[in-house]
Amino acid sequence: MKTIAFFDTKSYDKESFLKYAGENLNIRFFENKLNKDTVSMAACCDAVCAFVNDSIDKTVIETLEKYGVGLIAMRCAGYNNVDLKAARGRIKVVRVPAYSPYSVAEHAIGMILLLNRKLHKAYIRTRDHNFSLEGLTGFDLKEKTVGIIGTGKIGCTFADICKGFGMNILGYDPYKNESFIGQYVSLDELLEKSDIISLHCPLTKENKHLINDQTVEKMKNGVFIINTSRGQLIDTQSIINGLKSGKVGAAGLDVYEEETALFFEDYSEEVINDDVLSTLISMPNVLVTSHQAFLTKEALSAIAKTTVENIEDFFEGKELKNEILI
Ligand code: NAI
Repeated sequence: MKTIAFFDTKSYDKESFLKYAGENLNIRFFENKLNKDTVSMAACCDAVCAFVNDSIDKTVIETLEKYGVGLIAMRCAGYNNVDLKAARGRIKVVRVPAYSPYSVAEHAIGMILLLNRKLHKAYIRTRDHNFSLEGLTGFDLKEKTVGIIGTGKIGCTFADICKGFGMNILGYDPYKNESFIGQYVSLDELLEKSDIISLHCPLTKENKHLINDQTVEKMKNGVFIINTSRGQLIDTQSIINGLKSGKVGAAGLDVYEEETALFFEDYSEEVINDDVLSTLISMPNVLVTSHQAFLTKEALSAIAKTTVENIEDFFEGKELKNEILI
């Protein structure tokens, strides 16, 4: 029987993985995130299963190799938190390239609807028996322009939903996708013409802080910025500046550059030590969700199924179709 060290476990992970893991896998569920301080928990294990905010750097990889761990199974699509160069030739890394593009695309749409129609305020008001409509005016999505940065699986699904609202759809992506129903334009044109900009590209070294002072400057006044991809795509201070000046009309952020220390945990009884996040959360036209976009029953089920298949394929010596190669 093979033993898997499963890091950053939440109740919903355990439930979905126990459904798919057969009798040949012994999963040890740890609540800790995987990093250099916790890697020792993987001693005597054959593989590790990790998630978006684990820090799988060179030290962690060298230690895992020393323990004889042969596989890092990421239970997510993104892998910007894995030092792939350090892993090459030492340890294999697999991921779940696709599970439910609907989960993330629908969350992005939810953020737009909430911010535009101010549902967060309406919810609080009516609970307080305040039935005033002052300050709740939104705009029709029909015929507004949405700019999609990254037109892969999630970007295309998001575009399909936007079409249902009757929006004009622009896309920017260095690689064109035949399934994309919108019009491809340059990044500058997208920034200049879009009423709503939604990020759906992976984080790479090249596109860190893709949204910065210069790119915000090119956007329409009152633009909505939605990020369900990775926090470091946005220089957070730039959108705070934009929100303060009114250049940015609203921001929906499911991810945040410094999320690793905070997201997925309950700090409701503490004062958080992050003034940038506190500033964002204090703004009436900002919605922060804590990397929640993937969280649907269908996505959790697909993630568990593919991850278990990836792990079993590795131990059975089969071809690893979801291996991350560099
Ligand atoms: P995908 O690989 O199908 O598509 C990504 C697209 O982005 C590709 O077409 C690629 O060419 C494009 N791209 C790469 N660099 C770009 C750049 N600099 N500018 C514009 N486009 C660029 O990936 P998928 O499945 O659509 O996922 C997109 C991202 O969503 C993931 O990389 C991940 O960061 C994020 N994600 C977030 C989740 C959440 O819970 N918030 C859950 C799942 C994914």
